[in-house]
This record gives sequence, structure tokens and C-alpha cells, in this order.
Amino acid sequence: MQRILVVDDAEINRELLRDVLNEDYVVETAADGAEALLLLEGTFDTMSALLLDLNMPKMNGFAVLDEMEKRHWMGKLPVLVISGECSPEIESMCLNLGVSDFIHKPFERTVVRNRVRNAIDLFTYKNRLEQQVEEQAAALKKQDQIIQVQARKLKAAEPFNRLMMEYSAAIMEVETRLKILNTEFSLTYKRNPFEAIKSRLKTPSSIYEKLARRGFPITVESIRENLTDVAGVRVICSFPDDIYRLALLVTMQDGIALIQEKDYIKNPKPNGYRSLHLILGVPIFLSHEKKQVMVEMQFRTIAMDFWASLEHKLKYKRDVEDPDEIARQLKECSDSIETLDHQMQRIRDQIDQAQDK
Ligand code: GTP
Ligand code: MG
Repeated sequence: MQRILVVDDAEINRELLRDVLNEDYVVETAADGAEALLLLEGTFDTMSALLLDLNMPKMNGFAVLDEMEKRHWMGKLPVLVISGECSPEIESMCLNLGVSDFIHKPFERTVVRNRVRNAIDLFTYKNRLEQQVEEQAAALKKQDQIIQVQARKLKAAEPFNRLMMEYSAAIMEVETRLKILNTEFSLTYKRNPFEAIKSRLKTPSSIYEKLARRGFPITVESIRENLTDVAGVRVICSFPDDIYRLALLVTMQDGIALIQEKDYIKNPKPNGYRSLHLILGVPIFLSHEKKQVMVEMQFRTIAMDFWASLEHKLKYKRDVEDPDEIARQLKECSDSIETLDHQMQRIRDQIDQAQDK
């Protein structure tokens, strides 16, 4: 049940109102303004309405309204003034002070009940509306903040996206040059110098991880300066000598700069890894400028690629039973592959010579 407070110095009025209202409400009473304020102090949040007499000793109704205004209570609780006869001036003063309605003496049961009910309902409705508006305003503000954060993130991502665009342009450039060489070769020599190209752009998380691992700053400039393998192109050839022929043709091309060469075919890694790695500066042509972008090219035979894929899996498997034994077997396979690749190459040469005759 909702609680209301009846403030009147006449006990008869308090009791009459209690009698009318206690069916619907828990009715508290106070005999003057000071007592009312004291009571309200602890119970304000639980009160649904205040019925206030104007003429009281000690502290009259106007003083209570003044005090409530000072405490910012007006507007939070409906106040109904209990009055005998009330001049229009007094009524308009009360209304100006934020009073909701008047209950005139002598009390008419139905009128009192309805006025109190209406005042409470109106206030509840008004408060609910205000709360909804507040909630909606807060939600809008939050959405606006999210949009602003996203806009900032997008803006911050612009230079990164642009750099990635440059790397993917460099990959396209290299792929095109390789495909042209392949087409020309197949017309002139009736065979292809490579079997497949596999290209990849390093993922943002892998870029982040590598910069952090090597202690470089995490910035777009730092990616450009410190990482050479953001753009990767892997060329899979049939025979070892195709690798060197193709690598030479690519590095000799106009605009291509050879920045670094690691020959893991002539000098295999201890685990048996064989490939030719080139870091190339590749020209890309943008709307307003020409740029040089780094691309890591790896050349391998089909067999070396087969080996590297299998060996790569070993790095990510933690629960392999005997990793040393597997590593030994992989090294053995790598040696066999070397022999096999050259044997195949010799057979090809023999076939080619026979055709040439
Ligand atoms: P990363 O930090 O891995 O780029 O190595 P790095 O900067 O020392 O260059 P490196 O030329 O040694 O290796 C470049 C890439 O070649 C690697 O990212 C792998 O894709 C490949 N690679 C190098 N060593 C191995 C190896 O032992 N096994 C396999 N499967 N791949 C390798
Ligand atoms: Mg790498």
C-alpha cells in the first residue's frame, strides 16, 4: 500500500482524513509543519502524497512549502492543500509554489478519495515519463559515444589500411610479372617454370605479435621499416634449376630491387628446410606516386613445399610423442628430397635432349 502524510493541527481533521483514506493507503499524520518536516526527512522517498493544512501553529503550511522547495522536494511528491475557505489569491499562491490540488472542508468522502488518487496517478505518470525520457536520453548519449569511438577507430585505421593496400598491390604486381613469365615460357619452351603461386598478406594479429616479440614500436611506420614479410609470395617450381632461373629473371626486371637473399637450398637449415628466400623492393603505381614496397618471395620445389608443410605442423603440435624422432625422420626426408629433385631434373634433361634431336 502507498503511504501518505496528513498534516493538520486539528485532530478531528486528521482522523476524518485517516478514516476516508486508510482503506487505500497507509496514513501517517503530523500536527504541525515542524513535525511534518521531521517525519518527511526519513520517509520522503516512501511517501506518495502530502495533504497539508495552511493555518497551523509553530510552522504553517507556507513555511513547509518553502522548506520543501529549499530541499528540492517540490515536484517530487504531490502536495494537496487542506483548506476551509480559500481565496483565489491564496490558491494561486499555492499553485505557484507547486501545489497539485486542494481538498476543501467539509470533507466529501468521494471527492477526497478521487482527488488524492488523481494527484498520485498524475504524479506517477509524470515521473514515469520523465524517467523514460531520461533513460532514452542516456541511451542516445551512449550510442553517440559508441559512434564517436568507432569513427575515431576507423580514422586511426586509415593509415594501416592504406599500408595494407600497398602490400596487396605489390603482391598483385609480382603475381602479374610471374604469370607473364610463365605464359611466355610455355610458348617458347613448351613448359612452365613454376607450378603454382601462393600469396598471403600477414594478418593484423600476426603483425602485432611479431613487432611486439621483436621489441619494435606498434605503429604503421614501424611495420614499414621493420617487417619484410607482410607481403609474401611463394613460388612452387618443379625443378631446382627453375628456381634459380626464375629468381634471376625476376630480380633482373625493371624496377625490382633485390634487398636480401637467403639461400636455404645451397645452405639448408639444420632441420632440413630448403627454399630460396628473396626480399624484393617492388614498385607499385598509385594515382599520384610510384612507391617501392617490400615483398618476401620464397621459391621451392613441389617436394620441398610438401616437406615444409608437414614440418610446419610439427611446430604447432605440443603433444607429439617423440618430437626428436620425428625431426630426425624429417631431416632424412629432406635429404631424400634433395636427391629426388636432382634425379628428376636429370631425367627431365635427358627427355629434353631426346626431344631436341
Ligand atoms: P620469420 O620470423 O619466421 O619470418 O623468420 P626470419 O625472419 O628469420 O626469416 P626466414 O627467412 O628464416 O623465414 C621466413 C619464412 O620462411 C618463415 O616465416 C617460414 O614461412 C619459412 N621458414 C623458415 N624456416 C622454416 C622452417 O624451418 N620450416 C618451415 N616449415 N618454414 C620455414
Ligand atoms: Mg615470416
